[in-house]
Amino acid sequence: MSQSAFKSYALLGSGRLSRHFSFYLQSLNLPVQLWSRNGDPSFNTYSDVDAEARLNRVLQSSSHVLLAVKDAAIQKLAQRVTPAHTAVHFSGAVRIPEAVSAHPLMTFGENLESLDWYRSIPFIIEEGHSFSALLPGLNNPHFALAAGQRAYYHALCSLAGNSTFLLWKQIGDEFERTLNLPRHLLAPFLHQVVANSSQFAETSFTGPVARGDWEVVKTHLESLARRPELLQAYRQYLEIAEHTGHPVPENLL
Ligand SMILES: NC(=O)c1ccc[n+]([C@@H]2O[C@H](COP(=O)([O-])OP(=O)(O)OC[C@H]3O[C@@H](n4cnc5c(N)ncnc54)[C@H](OP(=O)(O)O)[C@@H]3O)[C@@H](O)[C@H]2O)c1
Repeated sequence: MSQSAFKSYALLGSGRLSRHFSFYLQSLNLPVQLWSRNGDPSFNTYSDVDAEARLNRVLQSSSHVLLAVKDAAIQKLAQRVTPAHTAVHFSGAVRIPEAVSAHPLMTFGENLESLDWYRSIPFIIEEGHSFSALLPGLNNPHFALAAGQRAYYHALCSLAGNSTFLLWKQIGDEFERTLNLPRHLLAPFLHQVVANSSQFAETSFTGPVARGDWEVVKTHLESLARRPELLQAYRQYLEIAEHTGHPVPENLL
């Protein structure tokens, strides 16, 4: 893959990330040609021809191809890229010779965000590549990672973001279903947990385990018996505490 002089982006795909990225590029007044296989006119710069012809036109008029499609489709689509293009994909997990990974360390929700929000997203790129050559016109913070560490990095991201999302969602469900409390009551508490996580100071670890209030922990375990999946999550939390310097009595593990 060459380092192409910048002419225009070709943004391929019309999913979650594409919608945000298209908005970001256009907010920065960067030229972008859009293509999606599904023909959605808002994601296709050329909508008067079939998917194949639309793709050809977009590729011909672009220098930088952004493969914003689902992970399993990246490699096949990347074969359409020529050596004259610079090809980038956004997956944290995929490794292919045809395109370089620039993984945005962010989760993209339903709503579009402010320009400053997009500008602050860190990109984790493959070692040996220049961020400005991959994504010209973007000044986001960026960090390089060796190929051999990508799978571990992505697993950690998934654990940090996706698993907590499901856990917090389920706890919100329990607030409403079992306790008749609105789930939004949790938001300030969870925001503070996230704020504390920027330092990970030991003093920010609070609660009965931090205090060694084991009678309280015992009542937690008993009350969670009604939700086996939450009980399992709580037990895993005790194991993590045990492994990170907060010894837990053996009868509670
Ligand atoms: N969403 C996030 O928060 C996030 C964060 C970081 C990185 N990423 C990465 O961004 C990339 C896109 O993720 P996403 O969340 O935007 O996925 P998504 O919302 O599921 O959208 C996937 C897109 O891929 C297209 N597609 C699927 N199979 C295709 C094929 N064979 N040929 C052409 N297009 C195909 C789909 O087209 P149709 O609509 O026609 O099915 C759709 O436009 C992935 O590599 C993902 O790992 C996402």
